[in-house]
Amino acid sequence: MGATLRSVAGSEVAALPGSRRGRFVVTPGKRVALRALEPEDADVVYTWFQEDYFRDMFGYRYPVGRGGWRDWIERHGKPSYHDATFMLYSTEDGAALGLGALRNPGSEDRSAEVSLALGDISNRGLGLGREAALLMAEFGFHVMGLRRIYAWVLAQNLPAAAACQAAGAVQEGIARKARLINGTPVDAVLYGVLAEEFAERMRVLHRQSDTSQV
Ligand SMILES: CC(C)(COP(=O)(O)OP(=O)(O)OC[C@H]1O[C@@H](n2cnc3c(N)ncnc32)[C@H](O)[C@@H]1OP(=O)(O)O)[C@@H](O)C(=O)NCCC(=O)NCCS
Repeated sequence: MGATLRSVAGSEVAALPGSRRGRFVVTPGKRVALRALEPEDADVVYTWFQEDYFRDMFGYRYPVGRGGWRDWIERHGKPSYHDATFMLYSTEDGAALGLGALRNPGSEDRSAEVSLALGDISNRGLGLGREAALLMAEFGFHVMGLRRIYAWVLAQNLPAAAACQAAGAVQEGIARKARLINGTPVDAVLYGVLAEEFAERMRVLHRQSDTSQV
C-alpha cells in the first residue's frame, strides 16, 4: 500500500506503489498517470508531432527530427519545480499517451503555465484529457505548491478549453489574433485556475462521485 497525500480538496489521495518508482497517480483506478520522460520516448514523441493538427495546437512551425526530440527529452527529462514535464501514460497497459508540463513558475508568484496533449488521435475524446487536466492541476497545486495555473488555448480548440474548465479554470482574457496558424490569425484564450478554486472543484467532483456510488 502506498503512502497517502493530503490533497488540496481535503481528502486523502493515494500515492500508489508505482509512485515509489517515480510515477505519480492521483487516485487509484484512474486511467492516466505521470512519469518522467525516458530517452526511448523520442520515437513516439516524433510520431505524434507528424500530425499537422497536433503541431498547430502547439504552434510548432518547423519539423523536429528524432535527434531533436532526443535532445528535447535530455533537456526536459528531469522534472523539477521550474520545468515539470511529464509523459502521460495509461495505468491500464503503461502505454505512452501524451505530454503534460507545468513550466516557468516564478518562484515568488508560484504561478505556472500548463500544457497538455494526447499524442494519438484515437485517444482523444474519451475523457482522458479531462483526467489529465485534473492530474496536472493536482500535481501543480498539491505537490509543487502552486497558487495559480494557467493555459493559453487557441480559440478553436474546444476540447482543450473544456479540459481546462473541467479542472475549474475560468476564462481570464483573450489575446486577439495573437497567433498565426498557417497564415490565419487566431485568438488565444487565457484560462486560469487558483488553488482554492481547484480545491472547490475537487470537492464538487468528490461529492458527485460519492452520490453516484450510493
Ligand atoms: C486537448 C486535449 C488534451 C483534450 O483531451 P480529450 O481527451 O480529447 O478531451 P476529453 O475527452 O477529456 O474531453 C474534455 C472535454 O472536451 C469536450 N470535448 C471533447 N472533444 C470535443 C470536441 N471535438 N468539441 C467540443 N468539445 C469537445 C468533452 O465533452 C469534455 O467536456 P466536459 O468535461 O464538459 O464533458 C486533446 O484533445 C488533445 O491532446 N488535443 C491535441 C493537442 C492539444 O490541442 N493540446 C492542447 C494545447 S493548448
